[in-house]
Amino acid sequence: MKVLFIGDVVGSIGREMLKETLPQLKKHYRPQVTIVNGENAAGGRGITEKIYKEFLQNGVDVLTMGNHTWDNREIFDFIKTANKMIRPANFPEGTPGIGYTIIKVNQLKLAVMNLQGRVFMNTLDDPFRKADELLAEIEKETNCIFVDFHAETTSEKQAMGWYLDGRVSAVVGTHTHVQTNDARILPNGTGYLTDAGMTGPYDSILGVDRDIIIQKFLTQLPVRHEIPDKGRKLLSGCFFEINDQTGKCTKIENIVINDDRPFGGGFH
Ligand SMILES: [Fe+2]
Repeated sequence: MKVLFIGDVVGSIGREMLKETLPQLKKHYRPQVTIVNGENAAGGRGITEKIYKEFLQNGVDVLTMGNHTWDNREIFDFIKTANKMIRPANFPEGTPGIGYTIIKVNQLKLAVMNLQGRVFMNTLDDPFRKADELLAEIEKETNCIFVDFHAETTSEKQAMGWYLDGRVSAVVGTHTHVQTNDARILPNGTGYLTDAGMTGPYDSILGVDRDIIIQKFLTQLPVRHEIPDKGRKLLSGCFFEINDQTGKCTKIENIVINDDRPFGGGFH
């Protein structure tokens, strides 16, 4: 099974970049499943129903979320029917939405799980034990399992990768918006990347207007984050292949597309 994962889509530039680039990516990688982290898709803050539907129309199969899930209040109106969108599974009991989904790929099934870290983030339920709990259910249906671990620190992400090694097909981190250069297959067959990086404004600071962030550092005054709606674009993500029988990752490749690294060229 071939799977494409695109990291945190930020604002309108991120959405445009995804729409423009996804056809080329699909032609090149031929993924059977495309997963996108969409928690920053609505101006950096959450997601709307219109944007959710646009993603699906543009060829996305599953959307994952994170700490910004609830930023756009509209989500409370449509999350119950948005069965292609998952939010971190370790949100407290009773939180709206679902933490994993299983999608059919011809005769096969791929489970997609979303978890959130706790280091320098809100204190949620333990993501490690939540993964154990959900895997006990999921393993009855499939051994092809993808985990988006939305977390701040590289150590917590690495810990999750090693904790789940051999039990899931891939663990890919999101949230920090800068892709790490450590795509690998762990010894027991789990594909791993600490952070997939973001899809959004290339000439920004983590997707936010760079002048605002520089001012924040200069003055230490509170600022309102604005997401640029013009300018150069960046897409980040990864592609991986899973052995359909064993559920193990057989290949993982990082993807970065921008003006310095154009598709199929540049200094890849
Ligand atoms: Fe995040």
